Amino acid sequence: MVTVLKLGGSVITDKDRPETVDSASVDRAAATIADSPVSDAGLVLVHGGGSFGHHRASKHGLSESRGSADATTLLDIHEGMGELNDAVLASLHEHDISALPVRPLSVGFRDGDGRLSFAAGQLEAMLAEGFVPVVHGDVVVQTGQGGTILSGDEIVATLARSLGANRVGLCSTVPGVLDAEGAVIPEIRSVEAVADSLGESETTDVTGGMAGKVERMLSLKTPASVFGLEDLQTFLSNGTAGTIIR
Ligand code: IPE
Repeated sequence: MVTVLKLGGSVITDKDRPETVDSASVDRAAATIADSPVSDAGLVLVHGGGSFGHHRASKHGLSESRGSADATTLLDIHEGMGELNDAVLASLHEHDISALPVRPLSVGFRDGDGRLSFAAGQLEAMLAEGFVPVVHGDVVVQTGQGGTILSGDEIVATLARSLGANRVGLCSTVPGVLDAEGAVIPEIRSVEAVADSLGESETTDVTGGMAGKVERMLSLKTPASVFGLEDLQTFLSNGTAGTIIR
């Protein structure tokens, strides 16, 4: 059984303060994962950029559709994400999780039409050896654009397909996708049905906020859950939590 779980950048960093890890939340997530049998049974972790990725990306004017051909610009964003990835790995290791980094710039790219290719073979080999791959939002080379931003959500969607994931979860700072009154929407089957509730993200976010997330998850065969950190344990035990997008 393969579980693909994203820890949102706003969960693991303070999204309003550049380059600040939310160590308490990272530790809480790592402890919850360590307590779950899923960490020995096919878990791929993906994390977002939060205040390490989005600030650097917007400083350079980069997004998923706007690229740069300047290697130092791309490296600046990649290095920021590397620092965050190191912090996540360190916390996972403190909880005895056999986590190893997988860095998208080195294993993924987009073609001229924006289609992402991401090497799945090494992830499968890692899972077979009992490792927990830890992938992150990054910059990737895109034909004709230099390099563009790759969000953790797109990685989740791509890997869920290529690895045939049984469970897909997006751990966020909110307890699910919220309606206009702030209540968790239990199930989403189309983006139109919830369009009014999906506003813009309030913090610096170059990759589309909640609306983009919902659209991406709707394109998957596997139902995906959006939930808060307090429901991570429920997701890891039951396979669903918060809002289910199917
Ligand atoms: C963003 O990834 C990656 C970069 C900006 C380099 P995400 O879009 O998945 O990050 P969060 O979860 O919204 O912070």
